Formats: sequence, structure tokens, C-alpha cells
Amino acid sequence: MRIFICGFGTVGQGFAEVIASRRDFFDKRYGERAIIVGAMDSRTYAYDPEGCDPLGLVERKKATGRVGETEYTDSVEVLKGIEYDILVEVSPTNVETGGVGLLNIRHALESEKDVITVNKGPLALKFRELIELAKANSCKFRFEGSVGGAMPIINLCRENLRGESIMSIRGILNGTCNFILSKMDKGQPFEQALKEAQQMGYAETDPTNDIEGYDSACKAVILANSIFGRDVTFKDVKITGITSITEEAIAMAATRNMVIRLIAEISDTKLEVAPRLIPKGHPLGITGTMNTAQIVSDLAGPVTVSGRGAGRIETASAILSDLVAIMDERVVG
Ligand code: HSE
Repeated sequence: MRIFICGFGTVGQGFAEVIASRRDFFDKRYGERAIIVGAMDSRTYAYDPEGCDPLGLVERKKATGRVGETEYTDSVEVLKGIEYDILVEVSPTNVETGGVGLLNIRHALESEKDVITVNKGPLALKFRELIELAKANSCKFRFEGSVGGAMPIINLCRENLRGESIMSIRGILNGTCNFILSKMDKGQPFEQALKEAQQMGYAETDPTNDIEGYDSACKAVILANSIFGRDVTFKDVKITGITSITEEAIAMAATRNMVIRLIAEISDTKLEVAPRLIPKGHPLGITGTMNTAQIVSDLAGPVTVSGRGAGRIETASAILSDLVAIMDERVVG
């Protein structure tokens, strides 16, 4: 299986490390290796049809700031010139236009390649188009890591809870906001907590996307489309962020044994991100950078999951699960 990685930041590098660490797993399960034939960052790319050393790519990126020696200006032109089976698209999220990620995914699907992505921009803006493109070209298109990082949610609902009617999902889908609100519970000012979240590498490049609720809204759109079969985009979400939450409001909630959390609510009729009062001890009242979601379905009732919503290896674990699912399907036929 030949993999090409678009985007060689934190997640792309984490995925390369995970592929290196799972070499025996692929050998045993499929009798073939998952080979990284190349990777692309924002300026350069590396390509070797025989397979690159994944850790070598990471080392070169760390040492030189570049993943490859060849410079490029048009990522789609690069994709046109290489041989691969699966595109792993993990370039930076652009929620206004979909960015290069959208162009790369479109091109790969049009070229009948399977795609795995965690890139929220293309999914929040062009979900329906991309799903239809994948179907028309008989490609697999998976995106577990786009919501909740390592926390299983999309595949959980679509595969483990298959056959059930999912009624609603309520969740904390942004670790930065949850970290800030948890720190504010302890009396730390908003700005200081945000700075800490940025230092931990959790916040988006522009943290406005976190604190204004835009990142959670993208994830809500992905869940609405992929799990509830809706056809919505980012602009359909009713969004309130956490910037207007005062220390007084937090203190007032505490006197009622409550905490304030930024909650995304998704159902057939609801699509909203807003701060909510949550009783202390409730599963949605978690503290720190964790993500959590409560799924309610007709047969199982409430199912709650939580996990690390971001991180180099954590997000790569979600990509690995999509890769294994695709390779399993190929084996079964
Ligand atoms: N900025 C995001 C968060 C990263 O804080 O959860 C994962 O999408």
C-alpha cells in the first residue's frame, strides 16, 4: 500500500512515526508493508516510488525545516506526477476556502485514490461534494481524526452503532476552550489560560478559531453530515464562543455546583455551539484538554466517550485506524 502524505507538520510527522512503529503489524496482518512513498510540506516534497524511510523524513524536516529537496508551487501538479494508492491529507485547516487541502482531496478522489484526512476545512465546507466524488470514483474517504483526535466518534457511530438510530450528540470538541474554562474554574484569568494553551501547542494557529467556537463548529458540521446525514456547512451553525464568559459568571455557576463548558449539540434539527451550564460530576463537566461526547441512540441509549482531542501521535492513531479499515476492506474485497 503506497501512501503519500500532504502536510508534514505535527500530525504528518506523527503519522510517519506511527507507520514506522507498526511495520510488523502490517507485515503480519496483510503480508505487505504500508509504504510512505513521499510527503509534501508547504514548499517542498520528497518522493521515492520504492518507499521513503518515514523516520528519515521526520529527521530531515526537523533538521532543515523541509521534508524534501524538491521545491514546488502547485501541490496538485505534484500529485499528478507521482504513483500512490492512498492520500493522507493533513495540511493546515483553512475554514474560509478549504485551502490546498480541498484541492488535494478533490484531485486524489478524481484520480480514483482513497483519501484519509483530518483537515476540517474541506469537510466543513464541501462535505457533500467530496462524499459524492468519492462515491462516483469508487474511492474510500475517511476522516475519523477530524473530530476529537484520538477519541473515537465517527467510526464508532457509523460502524459500531450501525443499525441504530442516533438521536443526538452533545460534546466538548475543543481542548483549548475546555482547558481555559477549567483554569478559570480555579480563578485563573482568561488571557493567561489561553497563553498556556498556546504554549502547550493545543490552540489553532489563530486561536480565534478556538475561543470563538469556530473549531467546534467545524467539528459539529462534520458530525451532522457524516452521522445524521445532513447537508450543512459551517455557516449553518449557531455559534457562541467563550470570549464573553466572565470570572463572575464562572463563580456564579460554582455557587450552584455547576461549571460552564463549551458544548456542541448536533441532531436532525439542532446544530449549535455555545457555553452551557453543566452540573459538576456530569460526564460533560470534564476538566483539562480532553474531548468528550455523549451519543444517544434508540437502542443503546447514552454512550459516552472521551479522549485526547489533539496531539501528534494521538491524531495519528485515528489516521491509523482509518488506514487499517481501508486495508481490511481491500483484503475482503
Ligand atoms: N485547537 C484544537 C483544540 C485542536 O484545541 O481542540 C484539535 O482540533
